[in-house]
Amino acid sequence: MQEESVITNYRLDDDQMMDNTIRPESIHEYIGQEDVKENIRIFVEAAKMRNEPLDHVLLYGPPGLGKTTLAFIIAHELGTNIKTASGPSIEKSGDLAAILSSLEPGDVLFIDEIHRMPRYIEEILYPAMEDFSLDIIVGSEGNSRNIKIDLPPFTLVGATTRAGDLSAPLRDRFGIVSKLQYYTVDELTSIVKRTARVLGVEIEDDAAVELAKRSRGTPRIANRLFKRVRDFALVKGNGVVDLDITKDALERLQVDDLGLDRTDHELLLAVIEKFNGGPVGVEALSSSIGEEVTTIEDVYEPYLLQTGLLKRTSRGRIATDKAYQVLGIEKK
Ligand SMILES: Nc1ncnc2c1ncn2[C@@H]1O[C@H](COP(=O)(O)OP(=O)(O)OP(=O)(O)O)[C@@H](O)[C@H]1O
Ligand SMILES: [Mg+2]
Repeated sequence: MQEESVITNYRLDDDQMMDNTIRPESIHEYIGQEDVKENIRIFVEAAKMRNEPLDHVLLYGPPGLGKTTLAFIIAHELGTNIKTASGPSIEKSGDLAAILSSLEPGDVLFIDEIHRMPRYIEEILYPAMEDFSLDIIVGSEGNSRNIKIDLPPFTLVGATTRAGDLSAPLRDRFGIVSKLQYYTVDELTSIVKRTARVLGVEIEDDAAVELAKRSRGTPRIANRLFKRVRDFALVKGNGVVDLDITKDALERLQVDDLGLDRTDHELLLAVIEKFNGGPVGVEALSSSIGEEVTTIEDVYEPYLLQTGLLKRTSRGRIATDKAYQVLGIEKK
């Protein structure tokens, strides 16, 4: 038992360590998202010229597209420190007050999953973002008073997979709002090649393209698949990642030609077979395939919508003709 848990821990650390190694540090190394990058470059330069902190930035988009990476890059480009927190971990107003009062002038405060911050805590952020001031209540009931503490100028970078869940007053306080897009096959090919280079693994061009095609437009998935394919190449081949090994490995990992995995297939199959092709509501779909509503909405659906396999109507989700084709099911 003991030994097993040590091995598990080792693998986790190994994977995490690798994530840090392959994460691009500067904006030059960050591939794709050209519009977002261009805006950030200009705003960062202007902020530096004026010697003022960068305006607050909200990054949103599906998981794994590079929001956290970009937050660190923003701090890197500004030449400042970054402090990180995540929405669900800020439970008490004191938690946020402690973080805010620890900031140094110009720092970036990165709050991941910012939509999951409780509303009453969010309200502390409003004056902090607007006037760099912290309004807190001290003392006990009956004898309490408000005090105002000045904060150093800082930049809040918020990340969320669900911009729609952010309250309007919070959203409005971000001067820069950027949506990250799914990556093209070309961009993902470059990302896979870069990862291979950083990890010192040889990959053939057509293998990199194949991996890119099957990564659902998402760098995190491209990197994850690359690591697994690299393992196959090491054990079954001579360590070089070529097309045959890539295809073979992806088949074993149950990733299809479009990059759809088992859950995508289950989801589309459920719409088609259990709900006659739809329309079906997301709750019914959720209990049918045993995935959380938010997971379906944040992780699976965006890509299925983007690739035109699923359509969203006011009455629910519909499987498109393309979905029938991909699954090889004849439409009744
Ligand atoms: N533009 C990019 N160029 C190169 N690599 C990238 C890029 N974007 C992301 N990556 C890689 O993909 C991985 C996932 O990115 P990141 O953790 O920033 O995603 P995220 O949007 O924060 O995801 P989540 O919503 O799950 O927090 C990173 O480890 C990084 O190596
Ligand atoms: Mg992240």
